Amino acid sequence: MRDLSPQPGDLEPIETASTDELRALQTERLRWTMRHAYEHVPHYRATFDAAGVSPGDIVELADLAKLPFTTKADLRENYPFAMFAVPREEVARIHASSGTTGKPTVVGYTRDDLDVWADLVARSIRAAGGRAGDLLHNAYGYGLFTGGLGAHAGAERLGCTVVPVSGGMTERQVQLIADFRPDIITVTPTYMLAIIDEMERQGLDPRATSLKVGIFGAEPWTNDMRREMEERLDMHAVDIYGLSEVMGPGVASECVETKDGLTVWEDHFYPEIIDPVTGEVLPDGEEGELVLTSLTKQAMPIIRYRTRDLTRLLPGTARTMRRIEKITGRTDDMIILRGVNLFPTQIEELILRTPELSPHFQCVLERTGSLDSMTVLVERREGVPPESAAEAGVVLQGLVKNSIGVTVSIDVVAPDSVERSLGKMRRIVDRRRVR
Ligand code: DLL
Repeated sequence: MRDLSPQPGDLEPIETASTDELRALQTERLRWTMRHAYEHVPHYRATFDAAGVSPGDIVELADLAKLPFTTKADLRENYPFAMFAVPREEVARIHASSGTTGKPTVVGYTRDDLDVWADLVARSIRAAGGRAGDLLHNAYGYGLFTGGLGAHAGAERLGCTVVPVSGGMTERQVQLIADFRPDIITVTPTYMLAIIDEMERQGLDPRATSLKVGIFGAEPWTNDMRREMEERLDMHAVDIYGLSEVMGPGVASECVETKDGLTVWEDHFYPEIIDPVTGEVLPDGEEGELVLTSLTKQAMPIIRYRTRDLTRLLPGTARTMRRIEKITGRTDDMIILRGVNLFPTQIEELILRTPELSPHFQCVLERTGSLDSMTVLVERREGVPPESAAEAGVVLQGLVKNSIGVTVSIDVVAPDSVERSLGKMRRIVDRRRVR
């Protein structure tokens, strides 16, 4: 793999500014955000008033803890535009989360917000090793989802040649990668796996493609999955994080020279980690739920948004800004099986340590009487005989029992029989409430 580390002059001054400079900038921006939100969003005025806090009480970053959290429910209650802090006419773009149940969550951006977003995605692509002039194949879905258009604008801002493929039509993805010879691919990690499989089906060697870096996000993926992709594609695999409510992709991003978690672009977002049960703010280094406050957003400032994503805040390494560890999962994706908490990412790690099994898997939850059970539906790798794969299933069951502490069933199935994602993969199939 090529060395894609930044050269002198590649980084923006704020990326290497001192912590003191950064905190001063954050404080100034936080004060502006508080006034802006209080003056223009009735929801924030009401919650500040109810908490007995006025924008003037938020003097330093630690004062944020005086304010209540914002949740997805708050955004739903203010559907569609009541969280906007500017007249609708000043909103240049709207995105929305898919919202599997109920109303979608709507978010808006002014022209300046779109500019900041593009700058931050450009910064993220650069952190991943991308440069002006690179050809970028963008397989994140276009539309109301923030992945496609978010990555697109950032890649253009950096000066890349952008191929706006969107998700789906996997055969054509492979053809375009072979013909256009992209340097970078932006895609969800599970859809990348589907593209790799299709390359192999067409008799192409994934290691021989032109790709030198993949920027993967929108769903959790593990360091074991990184190793799998880097090995199968002979390219760097780096992580990008974001969420519509806060901006979209580019809230935090991994630096290719360290690959040790995602640098939070703290000049625009202030991160906190809280205990998801008590709401108490936890010190850096402890695992909990990530809470984000926007520092520059005009159209839809967001204050102490509970992301439901579990991670830890770590000191900066490649940049001054702090990092978050790779996301373990969402609080709502935590499976509680006979009193044991587990996440699909833990299963992913163990599957990837079992050479006969492929990373295509789902966790199926069922209930018999009052007893919950889980079956891991996992494909054997191409070329592995069914008997060896079945033995590997027994090994996996032992690994799960030993490392997570719970007994699950393992169903090893033929290649290509687990549902494929075109974007975010459905890792949990919950059949407990259907009957
Ligand atoms: O998924 C934005 C995005 C697009 C990020 C493309 C990165 C790349 P939403 O659809 O609003 O936005 O979903 C946000 O997805 O709260 C996390 O649970 C999950 N997520 C996003 N990125 C990561 C990641 C986009 N790198 C939700 N690792 C978030 C783990 C992620 N989970």
